[in-house]
Amino acid sequence: MRYIRIQFNIMSAQATYIEKNKKRFLEELFSLIRIPSISADSNYASYMQTAAQAVADALTIAGCTLTELCPTAGYPIVYGEKIIDPSLPTVLVYGHYDVQPPDPIDLWDTPPFEPEIRTTDVHPEGAIFARGACDDKGQMFMHIKALEVMEQNGGIPCNVKFMIEGEEEVGSDNLETFVRENTDKLANDVILISDTGMLANDIPSITTGLRGMSYVEVEITGPNRDLHSGLYGGAVANPINILTKMVASLHDENNRVTIPGFYDKVEELNSAERKQFKQIPFSLENYQNALDIESVYGEKGYSTIERKSIRPTLDVNGIWGGYIGEGAKTVIASKAYAKISMRLVPNQKSEVITKLFMDHFVSIAPKGVTVKVTPHHGGEAYVMHPDGLEFQAASKAYVETFGKAPIPVRDGGSIPIVALFEETLQSKTVLMGFGLDSDAIHSPNEHFGVFNFLKGIETIPHFYKHFTTMHQASQ
Ligand code: BES
Ligand code: MN
Ligand code: MN
Repeated sequence: MRYIRIQFNIMSAQATYIEKNKKRFLEELFSLIRIPSISADSNYASYMQTAAQAVADALTIAGCTLTELCPTAGYPIVYGEKIIDPSLPTVLVYGHYDVQPPDPIDLWDTPPFEPEIRTTDVHPEGAIFARGACDDKGQMFMHIKALEVMEQNGGIPCNVKFMIEGEEEVGSDNLETFVRENTDKLANDVILISDTGMLANDIPSITTGLRGMSYVEVEITGPNRDLHSGLYGGAVANPINILTKMVASLHDENNRVTIPGFYDKVEELNSAERKQFKQIPFSLENYQNALDIESVYGEKGYSTIERKSIRPTLDVNGIWGGYIGEGAKTVIASKAYAKISMRLVPNQKSEVITKLFMDHFVSIAPKGVTVKVTPHHGGEAYVMHPDGLEFQAASKAYVETFGKAPIPVRDGGSIPIVALFEETLQSKTVLMGFGLDSDAIHSPNEHFGVFNFLKGIETIPHFYKHFTTMHQASQ
């Protein structure tokens, strides 16, 4: 009984501390958000350094005894740690300080790097509107503030390491090298990431799967120069006509991908596993209404939840060529381009799928054009089991702060580095995401609920506590 009372007092002290300091927490996050750390655009390179330094400073202030900017061939990785006792378990927190480009900028209601709190239907307590508010500055910053909360209220119960990178949105190429070269430095018992979502503010969930990715760019070349579409039209292959025809052929009438071998390794779930997806609260009507679409669209034989989590996909992300200026110009462009992403599921290897795509795409091109396929980044899918100690510790944390157990949900997005962590560091990753699908990450008017930000800060210390206890009991 005595033990329970002491625990209760410590916890309420943390909640009180968050309540007292929430205004400052938000202001500190705003300062970080104001730095436009766009990794995809080299014009913003100096801001990447500023953002990395700001994260390092925040880690030091929160309580890390060692913080450093680790140089890479690209943008620096911020490392921080506080080791209190080598015999205790170690949590490694991963996040990213880079953000997506804000384009199209005209569609933002307020400037993307000037955070503002406004209410929405699902965020009556207010949401922070800004690029990176949810993905991932707001979610990453919860972990820095959670460290402060623990340090100011009795101290951390185990060791902690932070690894915050600046190239997640462009494929984490240099992080891979860093992880492979620093396995001792990064040694840990569990990896903790908040860079995903949850079902709703009153339906907590934990991400138990991520899709992998193959990303390619294609270039179709026809005649050696742009041509008058009257003088040459009808007599030569028009690269844009050909490209769209080739792209259209990549799906069949059941919306399945037509690349030979694409589904060969795909993990097929049994009916018991598929039945579990029906338990996940989901309203097709709300989903359609939120997107202003009359109907969903996708692979025959699978539900919307399945289509966006356990099934592989192929999507054009951008397509261009020819004249797109004002008015009409009569021209057959010499070249046409597209960027294509394929989301992969467990057992599909990114390298294999990229190769299958390349071979197929080249093979379907008619005479009269040439095809160039350039692979971009790739990554493998990830799955974890909800019976594991990592999930169970997280589940207990949510029970304390949300009053109910989180639902395990497989997500459709990708964090390619997670599969690599498992391979190189031999530890499991817990994906404690606090964003909502409606938070518009990567889109104009991205936002992150103030409730979600504060709830995250409150829930994280409970994970440290439960993980430490459960890990020690299991040794
Ligand atoms: N945080 C996202 C991934 C995410 C979001 C996963 C929501 C699950 C739910 C991450 O920053 C991201 O955008 N990843 C990219 C992949 C990367 C290789 C560019 C993605 O999923 O498109
Ligand atoms: Mn992210
Ligand atoms: Mn992202």
